[in-house]
Amino acid sequence: MNPESPLDELMICRLDSARKAVEPCTIVIFGASGDLTARKLIPAFYHLHLEKQLPAKYRIIGFARREKTDESWRNELREALAQFSRTKPVDDPVWREFATNISYCRGDLTDTAAYDRLRAKLDSFGDATLRQNLLFYLATSPSQFGRVAEQLDNAGLLHREAAAGWQRVVVEKPFGHDLASAHALNSELTRFAHEQQIFRIDHYLGKETVQNILMFRFSNSIFERLWNRESVDHVQITVSEKMGVGGRGGYYEEAGALRDMVQNHLLQVLALVAMEPPVSLEAESIRDEKVKLLKSIRQLPPDSSAKQVVRGQYFAGLVDGQPQPGYRQEAKVKPESNVETYVALKLFIDNWRWSGVPFYLRTGKCLPLGASEVRVQFRPTPHVLFAAACGPRLDPNALTLRLQPNEGIYLRFNGKVPGTNIGVRPVRMHFSYDTEFGAYTPEAYERLLLEAIAGDATLFIRRDEVETAWQIVDSIRQGWEGKPLTNREFYGAGTWGPIAAEELLASSGHVWRDPQPIK
Ligand SMILES: NC(=O)c1ccc[n+]([C@@H]2O[C@H](COP(=O)([O-])OP(=O)(O)OC[C@H]3O[C@@H](n4cnc5c(N)ncnc54)[C@H](OP(=O)(O)O)[C@@H]3O)[C@@H](O)[C@H]2O)c1
Repeated sequence: MNPESPLDELMICRLDSARKAVEPCTIVIFGASGDLTARKLIPAFYHLHLEKQLPAKYRIIGFARREKTDESWRNELREALAQFSRTKPVDDPVWREFATNISYCRGDLTDTAAYDRLRAKLDSFGDATLRQNLLFYLATSPSQFGRVAEQLDNAGLLHREAAAGWQRVVVEKPFGHDLASAHALNSELTRFAHEQQIFRIDHYLGKETVQNILMFRFSNSIFERLWNRESVDHVQITVSEKMGVGGRGGYYEEAGALRDMVQNHLLQVLALVAMEPPVSLEAESIRDEKVKLLKSIRQLPPDSSAKQVVRGQYFAGLVDGQPQPGYRQEAKVKPESNVETYVALKLFIDNWRWSGVPFYLRTGKCLPLGASEVRVQFRPTPHVLFAAACGPRLDPNALTLRLQPNEGIYLRFNGKVPGTNIGVRPVRMHFSYDTEFGAYTPEAYERLLLEAIAGDATLFIRRDEVETAWQIVDSIRQGWEGKPLTNREFYGAGTWGPIAAEELLASSGHVWRDPQPIK
């Protein structure tokens, strides 16, 4: 960090210092032999240990069916860490210290006796806080969440009513596949845990730059007063991926881009960009505002959603010069599949601040660049003084929040081209996270796990948020039912999406501004 003066240094507000100290606890990972545990959870815990952010005392117990000893599980995790750690090489003395906290409990999620073994393991910990403060991480299929919560309740490990210590349940996406299933899942879980004990993960919210949307909006008066229909012409939110579905064809056939990306990540980013200022930084204040915003999104009735939503599917092409098969040729994908690998939406927010301002959201696979950004495009000047020299239109001002990669913020405005002639062209003012703060950005899971241990739910999704988002998505899906993709909805791998998505914006005189590579 590079403050301009000692006074600036004093003014750097360290929100972290306000966080309550994390209490000793035990983390139980269900799905301990799975991909998520090896790739994300254990590397995140290792880094938190390395940076001394975990409680003074803690234990991690892995739970799964495969036969393992404490020792063999640790050895597997050590190998996985060598591959997935964000810092390399792994620090061996730190690993050995970390590994003493890790043990394995073999069992089937449905088997009562396995929970007795888990409880016996917990009971063997001398420290009462390690037995009573329990974070249950459900890295398993959502269809198993309810059963695990019930078994934990039966075993006396999860207390819905006040008890010694605290117990929290962290659940992974997908949180349902439509409103009805999400509602059923929520009802099942809340039989055994209060809403305040349930932490629904959307790893997107753990990213520094997504959190920075709030900091940026509510700590800078110059932009916040422009953040409304008076100044903003429209907003574009793009989450583009270069990869195809690869080995996940089976999963994708059931999900599609709308469920996989829009229902959670894109609507969450939209909520943070457009919500009203919360009354405080408390989790419930922020989540109240997000829900209010999601509820103000104008409903898209199934019979007319086609005017505001475009889906697409990639066919074979070149991405980065490499041949990419079409979606229908991918493994475990039906040859006549109509599943969308791209979706673009034009949404309106029916509230005082945003009335009449289109919000364009798009996400897709096999696009030319993997990037996430929010572009706020301001209204054009009312009159162009330089029309004789530059034509009747100037490039409108735009503010881009780049969420990944090369996180940063840039402001595009017009400047005079040096010389005796009057020439105007767009220029960019650029703030880069890396340049300003150095390369350190913790993995999203590190932040989220720490927040869950601290009991701060700000970065987790509340029940009403999930259900409101599903309502929006369900209506769009109903509009697609029984309608095969048309030619205008296919796009070549390595292009920015189908022609129909261009037309969606063109009808309002807008064009997509594609994310650009940044060195
Ligand atoms: N992987 C990711 O990057 C990622 C990202 C976002 C969300 N998620 C979500 O996270 C969850 C886990 O994903 P994953 O990729 O880690 O899945 P995975 O590799 O298939 O692992 C599933 C885990 O569940 C355990 N399991 C399954 N049935 C069990 C049973 N009856 N009793 C005990 N353990 C059982 C398996 O262990 P055994 O076979 O040893 O029993 C395994 O450890 C899923 O909901 C997924 O959608 C994953």
